[in-house]
Amino acid sequence: MNATQEQLKLKLAQALVAAFGAEYTDVDPILVPASNPKFGDYQANVALSLSKKLGMQPRAIASGIVDKLEISDICESPEIAGPGFINLKLKTSYLEAQINAVNADPRLGVPVAATPQREVVDFSSPNIAKEMHVGHLRSTIIGDCIARILEFRGHEVVRLNHVGDWGTQFGMLITHLVDTYPDIMLMETSQGNYLHGDINIGDLVEFYREAKKKFDNSEDFRERSRKAVVNLQSQKDPFTEAAWKRLCEVSRKEFQVIYDLLDIKLEERGESFYNPLLPKVVEDLQTAGLVEENQGAKCVFLDGFTNREGEPLPLIVQKSDGGYNYATTDLASVRYRIQEDKAKRIIYVTDAGQANHFAQFFQVARKAGWVPEDVELVHVPFGLVLGEDGKKFKTRSGDTVRLRDLLDEAVSRAYKDLELRLKEIGREETEEFIHNVATVIGMSAVKYADLSQNRTSNYVFSYDKMLSLKGNTAPYLLYAYVRIQGISRAGNIDFNHLDSNAKIALSAEAEFNLAKHLLQLDEIIAEVEKELLPNRLCDYLYQLSEKFNKFYENCPVLKSEDPVKTSRLLLCNLTARTLKLGLNLLGIQVLERM
Ligand code: ARG
Repeated sequence: MNATQEQLKLKLAQALVAAFGAEYTDVDPILVPASNPKFGDYQANVALSLSKKLGMQPRAIASGIVDKLEISDICESPEIAGPGFINLKLKTSYLEAQINAVNADPRLGVPVAATPQREVVDFSSPNIAKEMHVGHLRSTIIGDCIARILEFRGHEVVRLNHVGDWGTQFGMLITHLVDTYPDIMLMETSQGNYLHGDINIGDLVEFYREAKKKFDNSEDFRERSRKAVVNLQSQKDPFTEAAWKRLCEVSRKEFQVIYDLLDIKLEERGESFYNPLLPKVVEDLQTAGLVEENQGAKCVFLDGFTNREGEPLPLIVQKSDGGYNYATTDLASVRYRIQEDKAKRIIYVTDAGQANHFAQFFQVARKAGWVPEDVELVHVPFGLVLGEDGKKFKTRSGDTVRLRDLLDEAVSRAYKDLELRLKEIGREETEEFIHNVATVIGMSAVKYADLSQNRTSNYVFSYDKMLSLKGNTAPYLLYAYVRIQGISRAGNIDFNHLDSNAKIALSAEAEFNLAKHLLQLDEIIAEVEKELLPNRLCDYLYQLSEKFNKFYENCPVLKSEDPVKTSRLLLCNLTARTLKLGLNLLGIQVLERM
């Protein structure tokens, strides 16, 4: 609810009490946006709901309220319509005061959070030596957007990359490394140990495949791999540790390419970070009386989770061989984030398939008393990325799509589209310009296609759709921004140096519609902050572009005379600033020309 709505609600509630007495203090005036702009901006439906209680006709109740209603500073005289709706229409002077205040505000009317807090966003989090797949792309894009919005609201955000850098797969990788590069040796330096030798793993995923093949086919290899895991987990064997580090570095470099392309900032704090804390996690759960042994494994039984046979389902926190797992690590990490990071909200962005995992370890952490009342744990789930055939997104040959290839493809298609478009209108641009524009369009198209869907549903990945200049796409929004910059170029006008005394005045219908939409930004941001649904912001920006385009078709800007001309220029620039801010919050850069 925006500030205007809140104010109106309050005044309606006051009028209700003035008309019918103090026992109506807590009655909701039922204020909703008008269903049809013909009826004004808002409608209060309270008279209908009170009819029985008051034993009066709704219209009489409505007129009782309206008699006591003091809103002349905000609205025109209210009208009673139909069976007893109270219709409210905002005054032009009120809207103008609001829009000019927003225009003068560098934050465009979006306040800083009243109580900024520390929030952890755990996102991206790919697994070392395994494919970083489209699921991780979703997590990366959605998590980054959420982090940006929280940062803008003034929260202190810790962006954590919970990389899967620990686990049994390292046994075979290390063994394969030793077999492939027999000459490597451990060097001890004051900076720590490292592996000396010419290691050149081009492609870690391919390397993983080779290792897995050996693992499946050779008993000797399996045995050596198991030893390597034990060595790694004991954290006492310098060679194993150096080999592990080396493998992580290779992966890290590959991930970084993607993060650079997508302009993502992340702090790596992988699973290995929590390794030393795991024994204490199990110990404390045991002390709290939560652990039961089940066939040698240490388990915590959960409320509300049963297996297929209807038996209670346990969360294993230590396997029978003494090893720890994904859940143990997350229990350690949630405790660390609460106690050491002092986070008040911890947000985990992963595919919906992990919903149970999160519900389960959240429950265990709460039972253990690790989660204070004022700390919120939130799993932000998302759906699958599908191919145009409606099945899981794959390459033509059926392999997982490599993210690098996916992003390159988006850029190269944007490049071709742009070249064609320029050729058609005979516009000449430098190679550098085309390259730069295509890169921005390609990246933003991929990001926007993802963010504009309700994250909980699956979506179909289509280059054609996401790169289209029409519809709810990044290019459409970018183009609206470019169009506005074009106005400033055509009129030789510097938006930053318009007459500082000039004000926005509203007269045409399209101006009202645009201004009213611009005034909703604070409400939308507050909503996204709460619900963590970036698609709401996308919808808002899409509608903003549409409303701007309507305004631009109907209201001449450069051809008008002052003061209308400057008022419209201010409205144009406020739209551009709003688009730029909104797109930046989605992780999308704007272009001045395209
Ligand atoms: N590495 C995991 C995966 O690829 C995601 C980790 C999410 N974060 C967490 N704290 N569990 O599925």
